[in-house]
Amino acid sequence: MLSMPEKTIDETRQGSALDSAMHVHAANKFYIESYGCAMNFNDSEIVASILHEVGYGSTTQPDEATLILVNTCSIREKAEQTIRNRLVHFKGLKERNRHLLVGVLGCMAERLKEKLLEQEKLVDIVIGPDAYRTLPGLIAEASGGQKAVNVLLSREETYADINPVRLDRLGVSSFVSIMRGCNNMCSFCVVPFTRGRERSRDAASILNEVKNLIAQGYKEVTLLGQNVDSYRWEDKNGVVTFAQLLEQVALLSPALRVRYSTSHPKDITDDVLYTMAKYDNICKYIHLPLQSGSTRILQRMNRTYTKEWYLHKVDRIREILPNCALSTDIITGFCTENEEDHAETLSVMDYCNYDLAYMYAYSERPGTLAARRYEDDVPNETKTRRLNEIIERHRQQSLEIMASEMGKQHRVLVEGPSKKNAEEYCGRTDTNKMVIFPRLHADTGMYVDVTITGYTSGTLRGEIIL
Ligand code: SAH
Ligand code: SF4
Ligand code: F3S
Repeated sequence: MLSMPEKTIDETRQGSALDSAMHVHAANKFYIESYGCAMNFNDSEIVASILHEVGYGSTTQPDEATLILVNTCSIREKAEQTIRNRLVHFKGLKERNRHLLVGVLGCMAERLKEKLLEQEKLVDIVIGPDAYRTLPGLIAEASGGQKAVNVLLSREETYADINPVRLDRLGVSSFVSIMRGCNNMCSFCVVPFTRGRERSRDAASILNEVKNLIAQGYKEVTLLGQNVDSYRWEDKNGVVTFAQLLEQVALLSPALRVRYSTSHPKDITDDVLYTMAKYDNICKYIHLPLQSGSTRILQRMNRTYTKEWYLHKVDRIREILPNCALSTDIITGFCTENEEDHAETLSVMDYCNYDLAYMYAYSERPGTLAARRYEDDVPNETKTRRLNEIIERHRQQSLEIMASEMGKQHRVLVEGPSKKNAEEYCGRTDTNKMVIFPRLHADTGMYVDVTITGYTSGTLRGEIIL
């Protein structure tokens, strides 16, 4: 069904990569900047780990770095444009420091391959999401003035044995990838092309990683996959489904909060919902991307569910998990979308009353099914007008939801000082709402109970209950 330049990892190349990596100089430092989804941010932590192994230190200052890496996203044209501007900026830095190497990682590297290096001469290294183990070798090649490109996709690579180096400073919450790639072929989406085939990671390695995080004092993990419900690991001990994995992670410590993303409406099971209901430490929050409320458009998008199917899933969530928060993704102006389709999306929003929604205007991506089959025929002004309408509808709904929180009590996992006022601290509820409150005895990584005393459409205000 899917034609991708897919190969397994080339063992000989890996070997030579590690040999040449021995020559990396100890004073070398890398700077990494990440774009796109949580999986990409987590991949940067895997890359950091690979570089530390060969003696690289990390820096948060591009000026101090001997290697600048940009982990990129191709999901919409605008994302790519923003990143391009950054690459041009970094190319400028190279003029001042001729030893500086610039590498492009991730989805744009996979999509554009050699073009970034040959035609545009923007960077020195191009490396796709399944090739990070070969980065030290590519650095050596690029230092020697050679072209350094590896965009091979793999059917097996999950980086299961690599312990990611956490790049965030707080040490409270961490992402843990449980699978890679995607086998769905949503017609608008570039991910199956940039990330390759879906594969699940060894369950034991996931549990080990979470145990390590707990030992380091982490209080929350988010299990990541493009479609977590199709997680499946099988070995001599039997099969582990997503519901079972979730349970095994939850059982590691009652003080650890467990989140996950993303569910696909076609695959989310009652089993997962019952597991969530059974364990207090599995957060009551589900991200269930709708994309469109019109069955006709959903069909064109190749989402393989109807509006009714989606609404039925939401009913099940409400039955089994009455206080569960729900969030979604919506695309406006997909090929042939008309006012009736748009009205259906608004009506599904009314029914679901989302706590949070990420809303986008459709952006045609080269090579996707939609780009090949359908005309991108909704004018930009119409896309924008519809987008503004759904943004406004969501704003009203989320304001009502936030208002209904007044006077309620929540257990909050404290993340640290709030951005605006260091006297105030912030943290999230189980349902993923940010609460800001006067600090009192609160400290990063601690659980506190708060009463909600105020709200905006995005955050709650609270007071710690003494
Ligand atoms: N795997 C997740 C989402 C991955 S991409 C899922 O299946 O839901 C995140 C979101 O970006 C998607 O849910 C979709 O709403 C949006 N998106 C993807 N491709 C897009 C495109 N071509 N134009 C606009 N938005 C897009
Ligand atoms: Fe893209 Fe669909 Fe896969 Fe999500 S499930 S990553 S939208 S193809
Ligand atoms: Fe972007 Fe790639 Fe994630 S396209 S959204 S970084 S999988």
